[in-house]
Amino acid sequence: MPVVMPIFGTRPEAIKMAPVVEALRRAGGVECFVAVTGQHREMLDQVNELFGIKPDHDLDILQPRQSLTGIMTRTMEGLDRLFTENRPDAVIVQGDTTTTMAGALTAFQHGIPVVHVEAGLRSGNLFSPFPEEANRKITSQVASLHLAPTPTSRDNLLAEGIDRDDVVVTGNTVIDALLTTAGKEIPFSDPVLEELASSGRRVLLVTTHRRENQGEAMEGVGRALARVAAAEPDVTIVLPAHKNPVVREAVLPAIEGLPNVIVTEPLAYGEFTRMIAMSHVVLTDSGGVQEEAPSLGKPVLVMRENTERPEAVTAGTVLLIGTDENRIVAEVHRLLHDEKHFDAMAHAVNPYGDGRAAERTVAAVLQLLGLGKRIDEFTG
Ligand code: UD1
Ligand code: UDP
Repeated sequence: MPVVMPIFGTRPEAIKMAPVVEALRRAGGVECFVAVTGQHREMLDQVNELFGIKPDHDLDILQPRQSLTGIMTRTMEGLDRLFTENRPDAVIVQGDTTTTMAGALTAFQHGIPVVHVEAGLRSGNLFSPFPEEANRKITSQVASLHLAPTPTSRDNLLAEGIDRDDVVVTGNTVIDALLTTAGKEIPFSDPVLEELASSGRRVLLVTTHRRENQGEAMEGVGRALARVAAAEPDVTIVLPAHKNPVVREAVLPAIEGLPNVIVTEPLAYGEFTRMIAMSHVVLTDSGGVQEEAPSLGKPVLVMRENTERPEAVTAGTVLLIGTDENRIVAEVHRLLHDEKHFDAMAHAVNPYGDGRAAERTVAAVLQLLGLGKRIDEFTG
């Protein structure tokens, strides 16, 4: 039986690949062996545990404060050995991390067809987000099948000369994952969050980790949060802190110990989506959160200068605000106090998917292997 190998390494890849792994295992006709690089460790294992995924291969590459080159070389060497001993008929990579890019390149060098999930996102600036814009462009160069989440990302690929026959618009698998948890009253493992949930207080949910924001910009984010906390005693700021020590060192000193700020470890996916659902406003530089929060009807302030996810900006639920400290304070204030502005942003939109992305993905993979037919595309 043909073997398909999903390869992933970080939290967002795991969340977005989980529905694909599940659908592949249900499909029949192919065997699915999962390989993880372990680029993330705790944050990856947390997701795999939730979705019941036990990797068949684990390269376990994480090192504290790892460099991009280190992630890349350890991934390529590990996969080189793996492909030599266990050669799959196709690999599936997701998104734009260094695991994604290095996984795609190593498979290509072994002559193994590469399927790219979440293909075609482009900010238009090679250096922002860094290194993700380069990672996804490199991956597009070597992929055999490009699974674009939206018509916009399909058009980006076509504009770069990718053959239309090699592109399928699937919707984003993050929406499939979200639908497995949305609407469920998943208990928080931290009693402080459960208490917050029953308090009725307004919540500002914050996540930050982007490499290009690390350092001075991220310290400014910390200062902005401290100012918001002081100015808005009736609002609670919740910050599930990324495991990266560089992020923690930049953001936490300004806010730790403030009475209306809760800093937590990374929340399990179900708990995090419940936290989005109970938030008033979301402030983030995350890619995935830009997709999830709009579909739950939450206004999102994005601490970046550009985005490869323009759909929710166009729909009016996402506002790009950059990382200037004063601007962050002002935009949060506006959403908390200007009801008209809040109402204009707080409406649910679903430009990113309809919950059938994994089904379309598997159909396209089977077609690539000569085992089936594609199904209708996601139209946005
Ligand atoms: C990576 C991806 C980024 C993605 C993000 C999602 C690259 C270059 N970056 O960035 O595209 O948006 O993941 O979160 O691929 N760490 C732990 N345990 C963990 C995870 C991280 O200790 O479970 C620490 C380590 O010290 C590590 C550091 O965090 O060196 C940074 O992790 P890394 O994967 O290099 O970069 P991210 O910023 O997480
Ligand atoms: N997420 C989570 N727990 C948290 C914070 C985020 O499960 O404490 C999820 C979130 O729902 C989204 C994904 O992690 O699906 C986003 O990951 P991240 O922001 O690390 O990466 P990006 O999407 O920016 O690549």
